[in-house]
Amino acid sequence: MEPNQKITPEWISSAKARGEKIPALTAYDYPTARLLDEAGVPIILVGDSLGMVVLGYPDTTQVTLAEMRHHVAAVARAKTRALVVADLSYHTYDTPEEAVVNAHILVDAGAEAVKLEGGIEVVQEIRELRRGNIAVMGHIGMLPQSVKEEGGYKIKGRSDAERERLLADALAVQEADAFALVMELVEPELAREITDGLHIPTIGIGSGTHCGGQILVTHDLIGAFPWFRPKFAVAKADVASAIRGAAEAFIRDVRT
Ligand code: KIV
Repeated sequence: MEPNQKITPEWISSAKARGEKIPALTAYDYPTARLLDEAGVPIILVGDSLGMVVLGYPDTTQVTLAEMRHHVAAVARAKTRALVVADLSYHTYDTPEEAVVNAHILVDAGAEAVKLEGGIEVVQEIRELRRGNIAVMGHIGMLPQSVKEEGGYKIKGRSDAERERLLADALAVQEADAFALVMELVEPELAREITDGLHIPTIGIGSGTHCGGQILVTHDLIGAFPWFRPKFAVAKADVASAIRGAAEAFIRDVRT
């Protein structure tokens, strides 16, 4: 691929055949999107994790489509080479028709693909989105929009029933023509088995190292949300300390 060539869903979906691993990170604003793009990240996800790390909500279930649209538009203004994927927020894809109408709102704001949570239960929604030529990324395993029903963020795929279900979910999402599949908190051996069984890339988060790529919430990667970081996320920077240090230095400068 040429250095400035635009990343497309097709380029991502064929990454496994090329033996290429896909790094992906979240962004919710213009400067972060621009910096990630300049660093060469191929997928930028405007995740509904913005509910926690930007808006201060306890989980993703309070994030509205209007909030997603606002942040997608900011990211899109960075005009990235990266593919900009946006999360369809909580209860915005309860029917195939609703999924299409709401996905168009995000696409009109600048999203180049949408992500939605679930396996077999969202196949009709994925198919309808694809019929409307909207690129779709799947998301199985721990589903943050169902955290209340699930009673927390727990590893998935430890029981035989969960294993069978996740294997079937992954195949169903691929069959419905998603271009990639996020697997969140999937037991690593199962994540490997699912990855080996698909032709589209799996993008893991807390699912071991044998996925076709990895995604992280950027705030976790750069240490910008010091009050909580999941165990699997290794911070490569300490932005929280840099902000506190700069603010303290400014306070000293003003006072002296
Ligand atoms: O909302 C988000 O940021 C996500 C990733 C954690 C996969 O869905």
